[in-house]
Amino acid sequence: MISPQTIEQIKNRIDIIDVIGEYVKLKKRGANYLGLCPFHNEKTPSFTVSPAKELYKCFGCGKSGNTITFLMDHDKLSYAEALKWLAARYNIEIEETQVSPEVKQLQQTADSLYIINNFAQKFFEEKLFNSDEGLQVGMSYLKERGFREEIIKKFQLGYNPSQRDTLAKVLLQNQFSKELLPRTGLVVLRNETEWVDNYRNRIIFPIHNTTGKIIGFGARVIGKADKAPKYINTPENEIYVKSKVLYGSYFARLAIDKADECLLVEGYTDVISLHQAGIENVVASGGTSLTTEQLRIIKKYTSNLTIIYDGDSAGVKAALRGLDMALEESLNVKLVLIPDNEDPDSYVNKVGSTAFKEFIAANKKDFILFQLEVMLKEAGNDVNKKNDLVNQIADTLSKINKAEDFTKQQDYIKQCSALLKIDEAGLTNLVNKYKRDRISKEEKKLPFEEANHFQEQSSETSYRDEEIILINQDEAHERNVMRVLLEYGLKSWDENKTMADYIFEELEQFHFDNPQIEDIYELYRKAYYQGHQPDAKTFLYHENENVRNLVVAITVFPHELSQKWDEVLEGMNIVNRDTSREDVFMSVNYYKLRKIKKMLEENQRDMETSAPLEEQIRLIEVHKHLKQVERDLTAKLGTVIIK
Ligand code: UTP
Ligand code: MN
Repeated sequence: MISPQTIEQIKNRIDIIDVIGEYVKLKKRGANYLGLCPFHNEKTPSFTVSPAKELYKCFGCGKSGNTITFLMDHDKLSYAEALKWLAARYNIEIEETQVSPEVKQLQQTADSLYIINNFAQKFFEEKLFNSDEGLQVGMSYLKERGFREEIIKKFQLGYNPSQRDTLAKVLLQNQFSKELLPRTGLVVLRNETEWVDNYRNRIIFPIHNTTGKIIGFGARVIGKADKAPKYINTPENEIYVKSKVLYGSYFARLAIDKADECLLVEGYTDVISLHQAGIENVVASGGTSLTTEQLRIIKKYTSNLTIIYDGDSAGVKAALRGLDMALEESLNVKLVLIPDNEDPDSYVNKVGSTAFKEFIAANKKDFILFQLEVMLKEAGNDVNKKNDLVNQIADTLSKINKAEDFTKQQDYIKQCSALLKIDEAGLTNLVNKYKRDRISKEEKKLPFEEANHFQEQSSETSYRDEEIILINQDEAHERNVMRVLLEYGLKSWDENKTMADYIFEELEQFHFDNPQIEDIYELYRKAYYQGHQPDAKTFLYHENENVRNLVVAITVFPHELSQKWDEVLEGMNIVNRDTSREDVFMSVNYYKLRKIKKMLEENQRDMETSAPLEEQIRLIEVHKHLKQVERDLTAKLGTVIIK
């Protein structure tokens, strides 16, 4: 871990123009710099860098961030790697923090596991290429399946002999820790004294992580698997974490980046055969449904994922389970089904590389539309089933969530409603309902039960539409308060207090619905009361990615609300002076007004339910109180006091 002092030093030295200038030719335009965006193709520059805010934003593709995210995005570096890059550039010596004994222990274990795996891989490879048994059993099987020597070497395949302890003996001779050996899965201890090989008489597929280190193995039986499992895989340990394994990612990463597409297959042999056929942008999930971690690895290199599975239902079902997560990660997912009980490995061997590529190109289906077609066929004329299906597709579409994916969602709604032969506006409403339900669940608020109730009576759409606006506006108000805190917190409100003091006082009773905004608010408050001087930049380089992104979003896209303030101020003819005080005042009080209005609405709903009399009376009292607060706030806002 890089020490906070070093990070501080690096942050102080960062010159965003200097760093981005390495990659993009920048020209000064007023306070900002302008250049051709490195993240998408463009002829006229829309990539803007603000040295004052230490931010960049492309008005063409929407990418934005800080110096560190630029390096992470552009050079595919991790957060720590980006910091190291900057440290090297500015000649800053990196000081590592003392790691805890537990972490140290963990690192040591991981290092030892890597060493053992490396050793074992060499052993297996040696046996495959240089032992009689390896050649006769292992190599001839691989050759028979069409794997050539070159590809076998590239993927570092091997063979574990059938004698019970060939590997175990060598491992023990080399004094590897007896405590660690069982964790590798390579050998097992029988009857407390007897070490035997776990992958006897099997072909060995080493599994590399993205940087090329061997984290584990898949071991396949020779020929048909009757009794024994077809593959034995490494058990979970400090370095082999199943949910993060993407077989082939090390060999595919450059090709994925270049093709801007990642092909996903099920198995080890699929990856290797496609490589052999010259198709290198391919990884395997291991036959189970995709995990978010795997999708994130893919997302580092491309947004385009093409799943190539055999037509059998098990594999496709597994893939379908990964779909919603892929949408949440903003991936464009396509699907190709290989026909006639073939898998990508057997199919490419059968038809050859060119025909395979043509087949993929011609049969790429949009995953969502494909899913819908399959389900439509299944549903037939069954009205209930079709109803379920509409809901299911709306749920799926509601997971296309990121602001930049809005058009994509619209397109899908159009296409899906056409396929379903239903009204486009109706589907839009349903999608929004699912989105809303999820938001309220995530924010641990009461679900809008009334809204659900109305949902069943499809005529009541206007009510629901209002709800949607409510939620979006809530978020806007929350962001707005956060924006003024970050922007003006340290300025003075009056002789006695700062803007931050004012904001904290006014909002003492309130909570942000968005947990991330609440987090930043709390971080700010803590830092502020500890005597630091936090501002947007403090959080711009925060170690938590979500915090960084939110701060960028808040400061780069000041919401239309603040434009409204400007209009108000313009009306008062005070635009040409510092209006930060008014900005804070309006942001805080409109936010409060919003909250009060929502509380009133919730209270209203409670009143409409048939509660016992005492409860009704209490609710009426609450209503009166809230109404008073509302009136006070409105009055206050109606007479914005200008000093
Ligand atoms: P498949 O059964 O499709 O195997 O399982 P395959 O990759 O096509 O292998 P060949 O062509 O028959 O040699 C797909 C993937 O599921 C995992 C493996 O990762 C395999 O590559 N799997 C399968 C297991 O982990 N264990 C098993 O017993 C079977
Ligand atoms: Mn196969």
